[in-house]
Order: sequence, then C-alpha cells, then structure tokens
Amino acid sequence: MTDCQEANSPMELYEKLTAQGDKVRALKTDKAEKAEVVAAVQMLLKLKVDYKQTTGQDYKAGCPPSETAAAVTDNGPAADGDGGEDNVDPWNVSTTNAKGVDYDKLIVRFGSSKVEKELVDRIEKVSGQKPHRFLRRGIFFSHRDMHQVLDAYEKHKSFYLYTGRGPSSEAMHVGHLIPFIFTKWLQDVFDIPLVIQLTDDEKYLWKDLSLEDCHRFAVENAKDIIACGFDVNKTFIFSDLDYMGASPDFYRNVVKIQKHVTFNQVKGIFGFTDSDCIGKISFPAIQAAPSFSSSFPQIFGGRKDIQCLIPCAIDQDPYFRMTRDVAPRIGYPKPALLHSTFFPALQGAQTKMSASDANTSIFLTDTPKQIKSKINKHAFSGGKDTVEEHRKYGGNADVDVSFMYLTFFLEDDEQLEKIRQVSV
Ligand code: TYM
Repeated sequence: MTDCQEANSPMELYEKLTAQGDKVRALKTDKAEKAEVVAAVQMLLKLKVDYKQTTGQDYKAGCPPSETAAAVTDNGPAADGDGGEDNVDPWNVSTTNAKGVDYDKLIVRFGSSKVEKELVDRIEKVSGQKPHRFLRRGIFFSHRDMHQVLDAYEKHKSFYLYTGRGPSSEAMHVGHLIPFIFTKWLQDVFDIPLVIQLTDDEKYLWKDLSLEDCHRFAVENAKDIIACGFDVNKTFIFSDLDYMGASPDFYRNVVKIQKHVTFNQVKGIFGFTDSDCIGKISFPAIQAAPSFSSSFPQIFGGRKDIQCLIPCAIDQDPYFRMTRDVAPRIGYPKPALLHSTFFPALQGAQTKMSASDANTSIFLTDTPKQIKSKINKHAFSGGKDTVEEHRKYGGNADVDVSFMYLTFFLEDDEQLEKIRQVSV
C-alpha cells in the first residue's frame, strides 16, 4: 500500500491535518512569502474536506477521530456483528468478540497492508526457507513496506531488525515472546543485525515503579530474551537508561525527532492529555530513534541509510506511524514493519495476555505444573453447557483458548488440523 493510500485512514488524516495546521501557524509567525502561506492554507482546507468525507466529522484540533482517548483505535463493530468495539493501543487491547480483535478492520483503520499469500511466498523465495508457522497461519498478519525490503534485499542491499520490550515486571509472559521468536527466525534466515530496546525509562514514566526496579527488570527480561537464541555477534540489547547517556548519536536522533513532532500530533496519536507528565509526551521519540541506523554507529559505521524492519504486535504501531511520518523530514528511510496478532489471555481472546493481571497470563517463570493448573482452571474453552453436550457436539476451535495456543506453538500443520477437526 502506498503512503498516499495510508493517508486515507482517519488517524493518518488527522495527524496530517494537525501537522499542516502547525505549518500554517509557523509560516504566519515567520512572516513567510504570501504565496507560500496561501498554498499551505489551501492544503489545510483540502485536508479538512478529505477528513470530513472520511470521518463524517469536522476536524477539531486536539480531538482525534475516536470517541475514547486517542491512539485508541475504534475498530468498528465486532466480527460477529454484535456492535461491540475493539480498542487497540500500546497500553490496552480489548474487544467484545470472543474470536478476538477483528484484524482485517484494524488493517483498514491503521492504514497498513495485509500479509497476503503472495508476500509469504515471496519471503520463502527470497530467503530460501519454509515460512515460519507465524507467517503460514496469518499470525503475522499486517505489514508496512515489506515488499520494498525484499526488493532491496534481492539487489543485495541488506537491512536490520529492531524490536523491544517495556520491562514492567520481573518475568515476561508467553505473549511477549511472540515477536522475539519471529525476530529470531528472521535473523536466522536473512543473517542480519538486530537491535533490542529495553524501555526501562518508559515503564518508569508510566507505572508506579522506581527507576532502580525498572532497570533491574530490564536486566532480568534481557535474560529471557537472550534465551531465544539470537546470534551473539549480530545482536545488541540495550537499556534506555544506560544507552541514552552513553551514545551521543542516539541522543542526537532523539532530539531531531522531538523537533519534528508537535504536542498536538502526539496528543492525536497517543491520547496524551494536559495532565500527563512531560516525560510521557517526549518518550515516543526515544522508541522511534532505534529505527534509524545512525543511532548505532558502533554497528553500522555511521551509515544513515540502512533500512530497518520492526517485528512487533500491532499495539506498537502508533509509535511507528509517528516514526514513519518523521523519517523523510529528517533525511532517513522509513522503517518497515511486520505486525502480529495478540496471544490471547487465558480467559479468552477478548483481551491480550497481559503482565498486569497474573491470572490472565502464563509467565516464563511458571513451572510446568503451574502452567497445567492455569490452563485447566482458567483457559476458556467455549464448551457446551454440560459434559454430555460437549462430548456430543464438540468444542469451538474459533474461541477455544487452548487451541489458539496450539496455533502459535504446534509446528506440525497436519496435526494442528486434525486437532481442529476433532474439536469441532
Ligand atoms: P511490551 O513490553 O508491552 O511488549 C513487548 C513485545 O511484545 C508484544 N506483545 C504481544 N505480542 C503478542 N501477544 C501479546 N499478548 C503481547 N503483548 C505484548 C508487543 O507488541 C511488543 O512487541 N514500548 C514497548 C517496548 C518497545 C518495542 C520497541 C516493542 C520499545 N521499542 C520496538 C516493539 C518494537 C513495550 O512496552 O512492549
């Protein structure tokens, strides 16, 4: 999908409008040439018309196109047509639909592109490897500019991977592993560098935690991440609290990004309010900076033009929509993305597995016995009302959490299909 098409999503239009409003104000303040001001105002009016046509609402500065606090993505009615709403942002994921978030609608809403079979086949052709089960099964379902990455790779232009973790707890849960497992596969098949950001600063700003605890969690989480088996010679894992102060190049990029994003824009993207601390408001620039190769001169020798590919769950996309908007304005390539669906909570796919509620999650520190007990006790099965009925009519694989977990972890496609058949 081109950037032109991306501008059709309400949030993209809103962000463009906000930026254009800022531009008009700046031109007027700077007493710019009349023709330049007129052209900017005309563009602003055109964007307002587009916005009204797309959303049915008039544009209002500071009020993003969603009823609820922003970055919140009203994903339209639930897939089963019950009129429910999907909320997806970096802090919350919820839907009223037992089958989970309607990801096709989310693609339209976020303005990304679907991972079609054609793309999966192409990844297979270019890498020479059987696609990972997350690709075969639509778990990594959405992308931005993946074809561009492959075009360049075919012409021997390499790229690097960037992913991350916000260390809010001592132990990570199984859901957090999904992007890391997939990133490991991408690193193996393309043989490329990887940077992993641990945003201990973010967790300090958002949670009621001390700086020391956030940094300690970053160290603990790094152990779980390392256990995924990344190439030690091609992987750089860093805590923001450590690296920001130690790398002038990284900090220079943070400042460049900060200069090119307005308060109105981050309000629109993330739903910040006037009472949010200024640390939160400027944080998105810190998550954006690793998308640019010049933030890591020790790895890329000062090159600014190496394309970045970010595997993550779709909740992180708001950060990278902002990053992609800024990139050309500071002379860097836009990062490409591969987005995953959410590994569901034990109680069902209405929410993602989340560290803040221990009962919804299987932690990497849980023993096999604890995991078994959690699954038996809490995993939603969508079963029938009585044991007899359940035996007679079978379960419902579309909502059965144990079966959903198998779709993430059972490698054998045939065996998975057999289990699905038995359960329906
Ligand atoms: P965090 O710690 O919330 O999540 C870490 C990674 O796990 C993904 N994720 C999930 N994936 C599948 N199912 C789930 N239930 C689930 N829950 C979380 C997240 O999308 C993320 O990829 N701000 C970020 C840290 C970060 C980052 C990045 C993440 C910094 N730079 C670049 C991705 C890419 C955070 O707090 O992630």
